[in-house]
Amino acid sequence: MDNKPIIALDFSTQKEVSQFLSAFPDQQLNLKVGMELFYQQGPSIIYSLKEAGHDVFLDIKLHDIPTTVKKAMTGIARLGVDMINVHAAGGKKMMEEAREGLEIGTPANERRPLLLAVTQLTSTSEEMLRQEQRCEYTMAQSVLHYTGLAHDAQADGVVCSAHEAASIKKKLGDGFLRVTPGIRLNTEMRDDQQRVATPAMAREFGATHIVVGRTVTQSLNPVDAYLEVLHQWKGEQPII
Ligand code: C5P
Repeated sequence: MDNKPIIALDFSTQKEVSQFLSAFPDQQLNLKVGMELFYQQGPSIIYSLKEAGHDVFLDIKLHDIPTTVKKAMTGIARLGVDMINVHAAGGKKMMEEAREGLEIGTPANERRPLLLAVTQLTSTSEEMLRQEQRCEYTMAQSVLHYTGLAHDAQADGVVCSAHEAASIKKKLGDGFLRVTPGIRLNTEMRDDQQRVATPAMAREFGATHIVVGRTVTQSLNPVDAYLEVLHQWKGEQPII
């Protein structure tokens, strides 16, 4: 998957997806299929996006016992997705088995889907970390800890907020992917996200990929919003 912004297709029907994508004719896009869409449309949505030439990040954040995750990943690799994720909180062994499952399921001559680990959700605040997870560490410490675990388990990278990308890059080098959601053109528009950043900030902080949802999908003009995100991400002057 190249480093174009990944658009989160947070819709529930194929019709909404087709309507949204019709505004981007002839463009090869990086698309994210999350729980909302996948649990309603199933594998057929993946096949149709791949057939149309797009790259697909299947964001269903697996978190279960290692054997179950391994078997699930074997099937997921057969779907032909380009990127998939698990919760790092599932543990090192679970992440190792996830990778093994992907290797087993990847058809000959195809590329294994990249394996990402979610560290802490971008909707989690420092306060939630302490009060709800009873975690004694700071967000930065917790994210770095999970990142190390994911790296040891041979995942390809992590999902993190832009704010943690720099320290992860410093700790593990440029090759370990830093995929960051919580992207906003205006950081005051947080919705349910806590740790947001603009595409330009994400680039400066060292993200390798950004995930953009509502900023594009709920915009009155999704194509303009996407282009603005793309320009900022590539370090060009804003176009509006
Ligand atoms: O609309 P918004 O840009 O906030 O959407 C972010 C997308 O990224 C959603 O699909 C959400 O599920 C996903 N995501 C996230 N935080 C993570 C992992 C995935 O927001 N840690």
